Order: sequence, then C-alpha cells, then structure tokens
Amino acid sequence: MSAGREREPRQSRQRSVASGRGGDGTGGTRGAGRDSGSTSSRAGAPRQAARANTRRATGTPPPGSPPPRKAPPRKATGRATPAQPAVDVHDPDGVRLQKLLAAAGIGSRRTCEALIADGRVEVDGQVVSELGVRIDPTRQTVRVDGERVVLDENRVYLAFNKPLGVVSTMSDERGRPSIADYLGNRGPGGAARLFHVGRLDADTEGLLLLTNDGELANRLAHPAYGVSKTYLAQVPGPVPRDLGRRLRAGIELDDGPVTVDSFRLVDSAPGRALVEVVLHEGRKHVVRRLLAAVGHPVYTLARTDVGPIRLGDLKPGKTRRLTREEIAALYAAAGL
Ligand code: URA
Repeated sequence: MSAGREREPRQSRQRSVASGRGGDGTGGTRGAGRDSGSTSSRAGAPRQAARANTRRATGTPPPGSPPPRKAPPRKATGRATPAQPAVDVHDPDGVRLQKLLAAAGIGSRRTCEALIADGRVEVDGQVVSELGVRIDPTRQTVRVDGERVVLDENRVYLAFNKPLGVVSTMSDERGRPSIADYLGNRGPGGAARLFHVGRLDADTEGLLLLTNDGELANRLAHPAYGVSKTYLAQVPGPVPRDLGRRLRAGIELDDGPVTVDSFRLVDSAPGRALVEVVLHEGRKHVVRRLLAAVGHPVYTLARTDVGPIRLGDLKPGKTRRLTREEIAALYAAAGL
C-alpha cells in the first residue's frame, strides 16, 4: 500500500493554521521563534507592543521563553481550538492529510475530510480544520480525536509469541534459534529493521513486541514510563494467602527492591499453582528471582500482556500486526 506523494506547485494558501513566519523578524521556524531584539529602549516601546500583538496573533513566544514543548497526549475537544499556539504544519512537498488518513484506514477520503473539517484532526499538536493541508507522514505527528495515528507506511508494529528455547535477539552467535528465524522477510534482511521491546528469557514464552519505531520501543522498554507487563507463572503450591500483599509491599532482591502492581492466584492443583503477576520492571530474570525469593521458584513462565497489548490466541512462533487502535493505545501508554 502506498500513499504516494502528490506534488503541487508551491502556492500560498489560506490556512486555519498561522504560518509562524510573522513580520516581527522572529524567524518563524516551527514554533521555535526567538526574538533577539533589544527590549530596553523606551523608543522601542511601540514596536515592542506591535511585536507583542504579532506574537499573540501568530502564537510566537516572547523573547527568553523556553522552547515550546511537545503537546501532551490528550483527547480531542471535537472542535478547533483557535487559542492554541500556531504552528506551520503545512509542508508543500508533503501529501494531503485526508489522503494519508484514508490510506491509514481511518475511513473513506470523504469521511476523513469531514473529520478534518470538524476539527478532530491535529498535526504536531495543532488542530487543522482546513482541507488541502499537506504533511510529511515520516516527520509529523497526527492525532484523530486525540489518539495518535501513524501515517508512515514504513512503520511496522508486530506482536510475536516467542516460543520456548528462542533467544530474544535478532541473531545468535551460538546458533540458537532467534527472533529473526520467525520473521521471514520482516527480519533484519527485510524492509524493516525491527527492534524487540525488552527481552524474554529463552525459557520464557509469550508476548514480545517488535517495531522499527525506535522512540516508542525505547519508551515501552524503559521502567520510568511505567508500562506494565503481565506474566503467568507455574510455581510450587499452595501459595499463602498473604503472598500478594507481600509482593505489593516490595521484596528486596540483590539488585534492589521490586514491587508488583498486582498478584492473583489463577488456578491451583495439588502441589502446584498458576499465578498472575503484573509489574513494570524490566530487570533480568525479575519474575523468576522475585518468586524464588518468596519461596515459589518458577516452573514455567509466560508473558501475556505488554501495556494495552494482549497475546490473545496468537500461537507460539507466530506474529501479527498490531491494529491501529492497539498502536494508538501503546503511544498513549508510553506518553507519546
Ligand atoms: N522475568 C523473568 O524472570 N523472565 C523473563 O523472561 C521476563 C521477566
């Protein structure tokens, strides 16, 4: 599927988005306007007032302001909000926004035009309610109703059910089975260079996310962003009633304490128990070490969820593409 690149001659267009190339000499680069003019001269006061007016009109920050930050993820208001800082999101060499949205499966071209006209689409944090705006899908951030939509068709997001015995690397010097063996032409030699989001031990099976979206992969793998992981572990039973409380309170491991977000007994049989552990940790062997530390060394371990993504009935060794909704949920979970 190719959204292709429509081109049209450069032309001025009326936009819902102020250009940011104001007449105040602020340079007008993408929302990072800077004014190096003096502010101490009294004679300069009317000019300063005019500059301030221009800034208000264009959204250009006053001198000395910190650089603008990325807009945090938020739900769309459903209507254009003209009070937002103006950013020039139009890229004359880009592709029409409605065409990209339609190619991404948001709806028909007509539906996407209506979404834009209704002020439900944002580009780089700026509501775009005018039709005809072109953007660069590889560089610019688009949200529909506040949810991130990836329009870059080169981005790949996969769920992989890593089988037992497979190492969490793209290749293995020792010749053990690795992730790339399961990816066919999606692997390192294929079109996309995929990262695995975190690792699973060779003797852990389950959900591993694969993507060539480096920023998302880093965020999801980093404990600071608090993306939860859910594991099912077979352990010796019975498990005492207060085990969940102890794990939530925190257990000291040799590399520091670990706490779980939740713990529950899923099933039990004589001498065995199946437990579910949810935590944000990415430390090596953390679930095995944690359960061993409380007297329940793991027999088998499987990861079932990463943040909002579920393994579901994906068979070991299989991959599936994440849905648009799953990708949006991952972005939200990673605070992007
Ligand atoms: N914790 C473990 O002990 N092993 C894994 O593979 C993942 C988390």
